[in-house]
Amino acid sequence: MSEPQAGIFIEGAASHFFLEYQLIEGLSEQQLRSTLAKAIALPLSDEVNSVWAFGADCWQQLAPACVPSALKPFATIGSGQRLAPATQHSILLWLHGNNHSANFDAAMAISSALAAVASLCLEKIGFLYKDSRDLSGFIDGTENPKGRGQQLVALIPEGEVGAGGSFVMSQQWIHNLASFHALSQSQQEEVIGRTKPDSIELDDERMPENSHVSRSDVKINGEAQKLYRRSVPYGGVLEHGLYFLAFSCDIQRFDRILASMFGCTDDGIHDHLTDFSTPVSGSYWFAPSAAELSSIGSL
Ligand code: HEM
Repeated sequence: MSEPQAGIFIEGAASHFFLEYQLIEGLSEQQLRSTLAKAIALPLSDEVNSVWAFGADCWQQLAPACVPSALKPFATIGSGQRLAPATQHSILLWLHGNNHSANFDAAMAISSALAAVASLCLEKIGFLYKDSRDLSGFIDGTENPKGRGQQLVALIPEGEVGAGGSFVMSQQWIHNLASFHALSQSQQEEVIGRTKPDSIELDDERMPENSHVSRSDVKINGEAQKLYRRSVPYGGVLEHGLYFLAFSCDIQRFDRILASMFGCTDDGIHDHLTDFSTPVSGSYWFAPSAAELSSIGSL
């Protein structure tokens, strides 16, 4: 049994660091491998959960025998004003836990250990907002799989290349809360497709075909394209939004849901949520199993 990185499945942390690094060009394989292995092995406080994931190019360099064939970089989707841009980076580090100070110390120590091989190019500090709500005020995660279902949805099954690992998608979204909150509660509920206080799915008569639920609840040949979402709000007064983060056993599920949200399916309908929030980054990653991660120095 290939054990996953445990931090993927630990829920409810109050403090989150999302750090995206770009590899410096011209590194020797040995330099990259040994620096990364040291950074991954740094002792962290017990209160910090860490999840490491790698872009396709970086993982290919690190572990050519362990690359799932479907792994690929994120590609821009949509057109004109309504675009999900690709900003693919090399390494994603997600630190989370209830002790913000410990997360900060871990983020500083790991970034310093990586400095010779990678530069930090995107950093978002996330936090638990009320009872797991997005900053729009809606509960985020209601339809997430529960219990054993989380692993079935998120992990590459035993027997396949990358078993115990997971495909990951990340996107920084910037919210325009003033325009969203200018809507009545009923209109907001029709943007999301659920009620605001208690996250009950709207019934068929009230559910618009461009609601977020309508566009993200995608079925292909009857099979629901389920994700395990771990998104968290980030930011302050000047800039805020959602760092969308999701895990899947099948990278194509991300493509299919994004196509449905960004008007790239036959019906051409876009997700109404994209009128109130804008993605400004987009990457696909591979989060290897715990064993593959800890053997990076010797692969
Ligand atoms: C601004 C960005 C986003 C916000 C604020 C947001 C928020 C929400 C909320 C409030 C729900 C309903 C409650 C729930 O089931 O969790 C939801 C559902 C969902 N979202 Fe998002 N979301 C965002 C972006 C995305 C993206 C980029 C994807 C995938 C590419 C996605 C996939 C899903 C899925 C699969 C569901 C469950 C649909 C269902 O089966 O009912 N979301 N989201």
